[in-house]
Amino acid sequence: MSIAANKLMFKENFDINLDFFKIKPPSLIGVDISSSSVKMVELSQTGNQLYRIERYAIEAMPADAMQDGGIADMEAVSECLRRGWKRMRTRQKNVALALPATDVITKRIVVPAGQREDDLAFQVENEASQYIPFPLDEVDLDFQVIKPVSDHPEEVEVLIAASRKEKVEDRVAAALMADLKAVVMDAEPYAAQAAFELMLRQLPEEGKDQVIALVDIGATTMKVNVLLNGESLYTRDQPFGGNQLTQEIHNQFNLSLEESETAKRSGNLPENYQADVLQPFCETLAIEVIRAIQFFYTSTQYTEVNYIVIAGGCAAIPGLDAVISSRAQVSTLVVNPFAAMEQASGISQRQLNLDAPALLIACGLALRSFDPS
Ligand SMILES: Nc1ncnc2c1ncn2[C@@H]1O[C@H](COP(=O)(O)OP(=O)(O)OP(=O)(O)O)[C@@H](O)[C@H]1O
Ligand SMILES: [Mg+2]
Repeated sequence: MSIAANKLMFKENFDINLDFFKIKPPSLIGVDISSSSVKMVELSQTGNQLYRIERYAIEAMPADAMQDGGIADMEAVSECLRRGWKRMRTRQKNVALALPATDVITKRIVVPAGQREDDLAFQVENEASQYIPFPLDEVDLDFQVIKPVSDHPEEVEVLIAASRKEKVEDRVAAALMADLKAVVMDAEPYAAQAAFELMLRQLPEEGKDQVIALVDIGATTMKVNVLLNGESLYTRDQPFGGNQLTQEIHNQFNLSLEESETAKRSGNLPENYQADVLQPFCETLAIEVIRAIQFFYTSTQYTEVNYIVIAGGCAAIPGLDAVISSRAQVSTLVVNPFAAMEQASGISQRQLNLDAPALLIACGLALRSFDPS
């Protein structure tokens, strides 16, 4: 079955454009469905590359409703989406969703420049069949021409992204059950990158020629995306996250897991918490980041990372950036995709600053509203 037919079938079933790279939808909400919460962000564009955050919501996800980045309990996830959407107080029902890196296979290929779209599609499908370990009719494919090959202007580099249909369908179905319409299906690393690029201006020379490891540390997963001049060199998800710290608090202080989670965020814990629990956790986290960077070195030709930028709920831990920076010997920053944005009047600046690192992916998805065609 051809890609076009695949897409068409997909479209008929769900009325969605599977488009990892480019889409021009009307306004939409960015929705990050994660293990500890659903995060929603709605942005409006106020000028060229200028945005205002209109509203956002973080709605707690019941334990075990999400597993390994996938939906384990459809009912619970869609209820969580429904509650989050109510809390948003918006009318917008179009949403952009994302698949975790582990569910998206990407591959760069080189093809002759100047081909017709359908010739290119044919070639992409041919290539894809060689490395995708599933029958092509169980897969959704998307591709984008990236750039001419340096020194070979007659060739172009094409990025292919593919995902199992069922992974896409699960997320679309959860949204649908919550009365929301998925109009964009992105990939998490691309969404994170889009939001991160808003803060590039804060780096010397806008981060030009700098190898930047964007590391999102959530509740269960550490998502690493290494970037250079707007291109992703490497992505990897590894199982490590804030749940480990919650578990440790639970073990040490005779609190339930729920109490541990609340205490962790409020900092309302016995005096020895800092030294006996938090500090060792931060050290372990730093070692995980270093390990991830070493994986990057061994699987590419690169030997240096110039910046580490941390995101995800764990990035809110005070002083974590300093621990990583001193252990890894790499300048480390905490991401805030909203730093240069206006805020709608109802949003508390203080709360948004606390929540910002965890909203990276949702923010990147919200930006899909303004994609050029
Ligand atoms: N102020 C804080 N101090 C310490 N930890 C925090 C703070 N705020 C949030 N966290 C932790 O961050 C984690 C949640 O982060 P995030 O929302 O990025 O995870 P997630 O996206 O749901 O998880 P994943 O991406 O792994 O599926 C939780 O473990 C939470 O306890
Ligand atoms: Mg997350």
